[in-house]
Amino acid sequence: MPDRHAVIWSRDAQGPHKMGDLVLTDQECRFSYTAEFLARDNKNGLALLASPELFGTNPVVYRSSARMPFHPRLMALTPGEAPGNIQRRIYNDILAKRNPPPAPGLDTEWELLLLAGHGGIGHIDVFRDDRAAEQWYARDIHRDSLIGQRSSVWRFIREDIEQTAPETDTASIARLLGPTPSVGGMIPKLLVAIPDRPDWSGRFAPPGTQEHKGEPFTDVVLKIEPAIYSGVLALEALCYEVHRELGFDVPRIWRNELDGMPLLAVERFDRDSDAVPVPMESFLSVLASGSREVMGSTDIDMVGVAAMLTKLATVVNLDPRRAQEQVFRRFCAALLTGNGDMHLENLAFLGGPRQVRIAPVYDPAPMRAWPRHNLRSAIPIDFDAAKSVGENLLELGISFGLRRAEVLELFAQFLEGTQQYPERVMALDEVPLERRQQLVDIVRTERATLASVLG
Ligand SMILES: Nc1ncnc2c1ncn2[C@@H]1O[C@H](COP(=O)(O)OP(=O)(O)OP(=O)(O)O)[C@@H](O)[C@H]1O
Ligand SMILES: [Mg+2]
Repeated sequence: MPDRHAVIWSRDAQGPHKMGDLVLTDQECRFSYTAEFLARDNKNGLALLASPELFGTNPVVYRSSARMPFHPRLMALTPGEAPGNIQRRIYNDILAKRNPPPAPGLDTEWELLLLAGHGGIGHIDVFRDDRAAEQWYARDIHRDSLIGQRSSVWRFIREDIEQTAPETDTASIARLLGPTPSVGGMIPKLLVAIPDRPDWSGRFAPPGTQEHKGEPFTDVVLKIEPAIYSGVLALEALCYEVHRELGFDVPRIWRNELDGMPLLAVERFDRDSDAVPVPMESFLSVLASGSREVMGSTDIDMVGVAAMLTKLATVVNLDPRRAQEQVFRRFCAALLTGNGDMHLENLAFLGGPRQVRIAPVYDPAPMRAWPRHNLRSAIPIDFDAAKSVGENLLELGISFGLRRAEVLELFAQFLEGTQQYPERVMALDEVPLERRQQLVDIVRTERATLASVLG
C-alpha cells in the first residue's frame, strides 16, 4: 500500500494556520509539526499527550490497528459506525459516486477522514492538502439558508431517520450540514447553529453561522429523537436540569419538535463567544494515545481513570485533585439519575496543555431506562466481593482523592438534591410508561445503596 498524506490545520483568534503533516502507512499513523507552527506563541497541538512541548520536531507516531487505524484524536473526527449515523451515510454515498470508489476498509476510512475531518468538535481540522484547507477556510457559509420544516435538507434528515430516504443529492446536503459530532451515534445528530435567544422555533443554519438577517446565532449539537428511543430527549433534558441543580457546569439547552420529531439543541462549549474553536479531547483519546492497551471504555477501570488524571497533570496544566473530584461527582450524579452510559467518550478535557479542565456535562441521558443499556457503570469498577456495593462505592471516592467524610457528605448532598427525581421522571408523559417505571426502580435501588453507607 502506498503511503497516504494529509495535512492538519487549526484556527485560533489570529485565523487559520497549518499545524503539521500527517502520513498513514500500513503500520502507523505519523504526524509532524511544521517549523512555522512550532514558532507560534500560545499554540494548541494535536492532542494533550502529543503536544508541541512534548514532541517538538519529533514525529508523533501511533501504531495502527484495525480498531484504531489513526491517532486516537483523529478517530473522533470520522463518522461513527452505528447504523443511525447520518453523516456516514451521506459521505459513503459521495464516495460511492467516485470513479473508482475507495476500497472498503482502511481506504474508505481514510477518505471519510478527509471528507468529514474538519469543522467538527474541537480545534483539529484534517484536509487532503494545504490548498483544500485554504479553500475551506475561505468558503462562504451559506448565510441565507435557514433550514426549517419545508427545506429539502430537513426532509432528507427526517426520511433518513425514518429510513425512507430516496436517492437524493447528498453532495449539496453535505455542504449544508456539519461534520459528525461523534464516534458512536445511537442518536442521530447534527452540528448546526440556531438563533441565540431563549425561545427556539426549531429552525437552524449551517454550523459557524454567526448571524442571519441581523440576528445573532450560536453553535449547537442538535439531537433528533429516533422512534426506538422514544422519550430519550425529554429524559436527557431533565438530567441537564438535575445536573445544573447539583452545581455542575452545564451548557444551555433548547427543545422543540419538527414534523413530530423531538429535538434537543445543546450549546457547544468547544467554541468561544467569537466562535473560535477550543480544544476538546475525550478521556478515551487521552487514554488511548497514552497506552495501546486502551481502545474502548471497558479496557480500563474507574481507578485507572483516577490514576490517568494524576499522571496527565504531570505533563499538562491540570489541577488533578479538582479533576478527580469532578469526575467522581459526575459518577455519583450518573448513578443517581440512572445514566449508566458515562463512558470514556462522554467525559472530556477542554482547553490546551497550558490550561486544561474537565469539560462541562454533556450526554447525561439516563440510558438505564432501556434494558439493553442497563449497566451501573459503562467504565468497569473492580468490586471487592467481600464488601457491600455501597462500601465499594465509598472506597471508589477515596481512590478519587476524597476523604471518607467527604465522600459521605457528597452522597448525602446528592441524595437530597435528587430526592424528587423519580417523581419528575414519572411526570414525563412523552416517555413510555414502562421505561419510566424501569428507570425509577433502578434509581430507587441505587439510592438505597448509597443511603446504606450513611448509617
Ligand atoms: N455541548 C457540547 N459542546 C461540545 N461538544 C459536544 C457537546 N455535546 C456533545 N458534544 C460532542 O459530541 C459528541 C456526541 O454527543 P453526545 O455524546 O451528546 O451524543 P450521543 O448520542 O451519545 O452520541 P454517541 O452515541 O456517539 O455517544 C460527544 O461525544 C462530544 O464529543
Ligand atoms: Mg455520547
